[in-house]
Amino acid sequence: MEDKFAKGLENVIALESGISFIDGEKGILEYRGFDIAELSKLSYDQVSYMLIMGKMPGEEELEEFSDNLKELRKITDSAFKVMRFCNYNIEAMDALRTTISYMSHCDPDLNDNSPEANLRKGMKMIARFPTVVASFSRVKNGLEEIEPDPELSHGANFLYMLRGKRPTDLESRILETDFILSADHELNPSTFTARTITSTLSDIHSSVIGGLCALKGPLHGGARMEVMEMVDEIGTVDEVEAFVMGKVQNHEKLMGFGHRVYKTYDPRAKVYKKLAKQIAEERNDMLWFDIAERIETIAYREFVQNKDKPIYPNVDFYSGIVYKYLDIPPKLATAVFAIGRISGWIAHCLEQYSDNRLIRPRAKFIRSKL
Ligand code: ACO
Repeated sequence: MEDKFAKGLENVIALESGISFIDGEKGILEYRGFDIAELSKLSYDQVSYMLIMGKMPGEEELEEFSDNLKELRKITDSAFKVMRFCNYNIEAMDALRTTISYMSHCDPDLNDNSPEANLRKGMKMIARFPTVVASFSRVKNGLEEIEPDPELSHGANFLYMLRGKRPTDLESRILETDFILSADHELNPSTFTARTITSTLSDIHSSVIGGLCALKGPLHGGARMEVMEMVDEIGTVDEVEAFVMGKVQNHEKLMGFGHRVYKTYDPRAKVYKKLAKQIAEERNDMLWFDIAERIETIAYREFVQNKDKPIYPNVDFYSGIVYKYLDIPPKLATAVFAIGRISGWIAHCLEQYSDNRLIRPRAKFIRSKL
């Protein structure tokens, strides 16, 4: 066997996919051939349909898909009980993992791995992730859960269930865009995990739960929470220089920066930056945006200009700032990311089932000298 080895599977082409295209040098991201900046103006339902079905929906197809998702939003009383029963030291990602696992036991399609059953199970997860995350957050804060509102879009309904009041049009639009920008990103660690589980012909709930577990880590979706906490810790624009220089001198990672694939500005971060500015201006409170922009300026000077390293803001940087303006608590940030990412996971699992080969790489054996 030829001895090829790439630590962290860097630049390894593991499979063929028609879902996302990334050009890491030019900073391009497309879902099924559509540029992400253009897609970010659509609805999450529309983009989810396109990711899963492989084509843009017609008017009737979209209406049917959206109505179906709205009908599936509610979760059962027993699922609420599981959530309430959870140990309250846990956070939303753990609750999501546990509740989705419990919900799978009650699903009549549990042991049916046909494409139709997998689509049905996928639709339920897309529809119910927001309900689980919002309900868990309310229960944890001693508040009553709020029933989903079928009049509202996917994004607006989540904010409504979380806060108990209808969001503004700008807030709804921003969260819808957030879910779209988070929906897919080729073979990122969580999607690769989900596909690896699917490749064993395990069930789609298990694949999604595996994806959740991978997304949680601070080098992946967990970075969004860390960005929010970092901005709180810094507190003022004047403190940014000392904070970033401390990271540089201690050789610590700056959260929300750097990417395995992008060697330039992450195209999603560009859209998030605009959204962050927009909502900061609407709220007449530029503090977090100004702190973020100053971090970016110093990081550019230190990493790109001084060290010639391609370390730019990634998807988690300005999204963390957007979440601060939406009053999403930092501990909820990764679970909100998962609400967007679920449609990408479903699309990838269905693609994997449809043309499966077991994913099973090799390890380079290092004989112990002991
Ligand atoms: N801050 C400071 N230095 C960095 C950063 C950062 N955020 N990211 C990379 N570097 C440096 C590393 O120290 C390393 O330097 P060296 O060559 O002098 O040792 C070099 O750049 C390469 O870094 P690696 O960690 O080896 O690159 P890799 O491709 O494995 O990592 C990763 C990518 C994990 C995203 C990394 O950039 C990172 O840890 N970023 C911070 C966490 C983060 O924001 N994660 C979210 C990513 S997006 C997502 O998953 C949704």
